[in-house]
Amino acid sequence: MTGLSDSFQRPINYLRISVTDRCNLRCVYCMPQDGVKLMSHADILTYEEIRTVAQAAAELGMNKVRITGGEPLVRLGLPGLVAMLAQIENIDDLSLTTNGTLLGRYAGELKSAGLRRVNVSLDTIKPERFSAITGGDGNLDDVLEGIEVARSVGLNPVKLNNVVISGVNDDELLDFARKTTTDGWHVRFIELMPVVGEKEVNPSQFISVGEMRQRLEILGELEPCQPSVGNGPARYFQLPGAKGTIGFITPVSEHFCVECNRLRLTADGKLRSCLLSENEVDLRQPLRGGVSSAGLKELIEEAVALKPRRHHLAEGCIPKDRPFSQVGG
Ligand code: 5AD
Ligand code: SF4
Repeated sequence: MTGLSDSFQRPINYLRISVTDRCNLRCVYCMPQDGVKLMSHADILTYEEIRTVAQAAAELGMNKVRITGGEPLVRLGLPGLVAMLAQIENIDDLSLTTNGTLLGRYAGELKSAGLRRVNVSLDTIKPERFSAITGGDGNLDDVLEGIEVARSVGLNPVKLNNVVISGVNDDELLDFARKTTTDGWHVRFIELMPVVGEKEVNPSQFISVGEMRQRLEILGELEPCQPSVGNGPARYFQLPGAKGTIGFITPVSEHFCVECNRLRLTADGKLRSCLLSENEVDLRQPLRGGVSSAGLKELIEEAVALKPRRHHLAEGCIPKDRPFSQVGG
């Protein structure tokens, strides 16, 4: 197997598959509050179609797959898809990103189906604040329970994604960091990307990872994890004596595009070359027109070739074609 690489010699081995654009929450930093136009049922790839794409990608050397949304667990029968993907030879890391609200219900089934691990979005551990950030309908206790069930069935490491927003949840930075010591949590602090309108979040609410690290100094020295862990852009550290880890993700202050290894498949069957670029290759029509495996691989290679060198978020360039909720973070 030769493996894919793009025009900038980056190896591309990581496929993020969005299985739905729907979500049972409405996080301020993700969804425009006046709603988004939803895809129709017929627009969305079937699980068989997704499997066909993943199979071709795996044969091209893409050995890491993450299922995303919207919220992937709102799509019926998701453990069935996990089982299909887990059977593909070459895929050696199969993971899921979820908001956690339905995780308590599905974690056991997902684990038995072959899922390795989960990342859960968790921006606050204060119930009233949870409602404000996620738009009202969700319940923090469900998420906390989901996290515990996921840990207990062995979907480890369970990583908690925390988007730090000034004036909204930045006062919980130390509480989350302490949880890495008291509860062995693996927390990842993420810089806010300005991808929805200013009505929802505005640029003054941005906090850089540099500033987060300064605020955490009071808890002691952050030791870099050795050997470095993870296959994404996070940098991991540990507080003295902590079992859990603290990761930092800097999409804005220090773009990590030089190490980008990913492609994204949208729920409606477009291969997107970058979270923050509008370059896409349609797979749905070819799939429904009976494309051969070789033809599909050529289309995947085409999407890889479209990968831009880097994004320009810091300069204010934001894709306009899709809401973030369709691209899976
Ligand atoms: N800025 C930073 N991270 C975001 N995510 C979604 N929207 C944003 C944003 N505007 C991340 C969240 C979530 C994941 C799916 O995507 O951390 O956990
Ligand atoms: Fe839903 Fe995740 Fe977007 Fe929140 S961040 S609205 S949970 S897709």
